[in-house]
Amino acid sequence: MYSDLFSQLDAGRLRHLITLEGLPHERIAALLDRADALRTASRGGTRTLDLLGGRTVINLFFEPSTRTRTSFDLAAQRLGAHVINFDIASSSASKGESLLDTVHTLEAMHCDAFVVRHKESGTPQFIAQHLRSGAAVLNAGDGNHAHPTQGLLDALTLRRQRPDTGALRVTICGDIRHSRVARSDVHALHALGVRDIRLCAPEQLLPEAGEFPDCGIFHNFDEAIDGADVVIMLRLQKERMQAAAIPSEAEYFARYGLSSERLKRARSDCLVMHPGPINRGVEIATDVADGPQSLILKQVANGVFVRMAVLAELLGADKAATMRA
Ligand code: NCD
Repeated sequence: MYSDLFSQLDAGRLRHLITLEGLPHERIAALLDRADALRTASRGGTRTLDLLGGRTVINLFFEPSTRTRTSFDLAAQRLGAHVINFDIASSSASKGESLLDTVHTLEAMHCDAFVVRHKESGTPQFIAQHLRSGAAVLNAGDGNHAHPTQGLLDALTLRRQRPDTGALRVTICGDIRHSRVARSDVHALHALGVRDIRLCAPEQLLPEAGEFPDCGIFHNFDEAIDGADVVIMLRLQKERMQAAAIPSEAEYFARYGLSSERLKRARSDCLVMHPGPINRGVEIATDVADGPQSLILKQVANGVFVRMAVLAELLGADKAATMRA
């Protein structure tokens, strides 16, 4: 589904957000700055802005979602846009209508942005290449390829807690192979200047050799977490596994789960992150998920500001108006 001819940038302008890969680091930093500015302008999300008044955003989620869909919905509404949450189950997609026929039908009613989540990697790019209008496409997670707004919100969360990001050791543990979050997080962490990134998974859940040339690869979580400033835990992506790739959840937790005991191997002020949904007792213990080092709900809160920033950027909202608001 990928095409080399595709670019999300057009004459320097960000037209779509499909991936963080290849996006200049200063553009990523500028999006995070804009998210912070929108947090202030919207008084922490309690005040609706009118930056996207009269614009229409369509959420097209072909895979389940709790936080990402709600977050995009709130972000668009808090910028004054209309939002349609397209219901796939009750749509003509269930009568066999093709993806592009669905998209062109919605486009004919006029909309400014499609927020797309799909189990097939490449679908948001495919849609972007076949649009007939000037609508923007925002990738809300495609297969195991990318989840750019998750990468951005993780970067924003980290940067707010530890502004000196270049000096951090970040350990990402879990199902790296099937994780679009891991891929987007690595790009976002590089943009923040993080040099010490450690990826940890059982052999069968590690990525292909050479996919992450700038990251350390570990099989042993006790070694990978040693001295970490930040640990990002990932859910087992069972929906993307061929067969049972792990022996049992209890055994998985014993070797790759984040317990409070294991967390003691990291720095005493180590921050704990997880994109959600969490599986308590599988990849993370309840006392850690709910403990003082956990940023999980801060990540959720920051997601709304990041998505406001991306929507404002792609739909060409006046930057100065953000500051004046
Ligand atoms: C993630 C996703 O869908 O990729 N969730 C999210 O968007 N916060 C991670 C996951 O499903 O494990």
